[in-house]
Amino acid sequence: MGLYIRSNTIPVQSASPIILGIETSCDETSVAVLQGEKLLSNVISSQAVHIQFGGVVPELASRAHLRKIIPITEEALSQAGVTLSDVDVLAVTAGPGLVGALLVGVNFAKGLVLATGKPIIGIHHLEGHIYSNFLSHPEVAPPMLVLIVSGGHTLLVAMKAHLQYRVLGSTRDDAVGEAYDKVAKILGLGYPGGPVIDRLAQKGDPEFITFPKGLEKDDSFDFSYSGLKTAVLNYVRQAGETVVKDHLADICASFQKAAIDILVEKTIRAARTFGFRTITVAGGVAANSYLRSAIRKAGEAYHLQVYSPDMAFCMDNGAMIARAALERLRYGYFSNLALNAYPTLQLDMLD
Ligand code: KG4
Ligand code: ZN
Repeated sequence: MGLYIRSNTIPVQSASPIILGIETSCDETSVAVLQGEKLLSNVISSQAVHIQFGGVVPELASRAHLRKIIPITEEALSQAGVTLSDVDVLAVTAGPGLVGALLVGVNFAKGLVLATGKPIIGIHHLEGHIYSNFLSHPEVAPPMLVLIVSGGHTLLVAMKAHLQYRVLGSTRDDAVGEAYDKVAKILGLGYPGGPVIDRLAQKGDPEFITFPKGLEKDDSFDFSYSGLKTAVLNYVRQAGETVVKDHLADICASFQKAAIDILVEKTIRAARTFGFRTITVAGGVAANSYLRSAIRKAGEAYHLQVYSPDMAFCMDNGAMIARAALERLRYGYFSNLALNAYPTLQLDMLD
């Protein structure tokens, strides 16, 4: 995939370059300004238009990005107290994601290149999530094991050094965030489901029902969430409306336990198998209160350092894209105007 050209003559001289990070891969329009490792602004606009449909409608996402991208960029520059001419580098999510949504960000960034002559760096969306932990915890350093959990992805990544990734396992069907969203729909809790289930589960009994943990007996580091979602659906149908209403919090807590415990178990097993001392968690589901505490406790038990990003950096955001671009810049990676949107871009095939 021709995402990068390597250059010995780096077109940016500053040791603390100002990077404009643009993210439009799904349903958040976000732009951030980063100066060196210091975040100057991070403006996120979540698209409410999808709520009535219970999930992201791609065409509506593209249109909402088009409407928002200029005002959000102006807001990010203004909050940072800089102008476009102060910016040294443009960074934009090039994939994976919804093609129409990605195209808005990529073409907007390319337009800025044509207007200003600034260099551009295309960023893999998951590389952005990985680098969100470097925004929150500057002391974090590879080698590390990364658990990426979002609405579109569930994977375990071995990161031996900066920008070097090996995928150890991933979901064979639904992503964990997608399972939260689908279960919330089954329970009539609205979209997105993650935050609602997280909140309700705090008042529920996680032992109320034993739901199946996907690929629990499997030696691989893969995950599966379609069986769990079907088990919740079958339970809801059998139990009937009254039981479901009376035990909503218990059902949420039981689902959450099955969904999250398997993530924690496989992550700890992978860290011990491959000798990682540091674990980082990233993506929208990294905001989950049970996951954050369960993985921290499991890490303590095995003397592993566990990091989760600040809440603002869990959901899709421009800051993580700018932070990943800073690392690409340090190693001499650039893109050019041939940059395109790559809806199925693979993390371990970036070079
Ligand atoms: O990373 P993200 O903003 O977008 C993708 O790249 O997919 O993740 C969104 C996902 C949604 O599925 C949402 O339900 C889930 O993250 N999510 C949560 C929580 N907050 C957001 N899942 C569980 N618990 C939460 N607190
Ligand atoms: Zn994401």
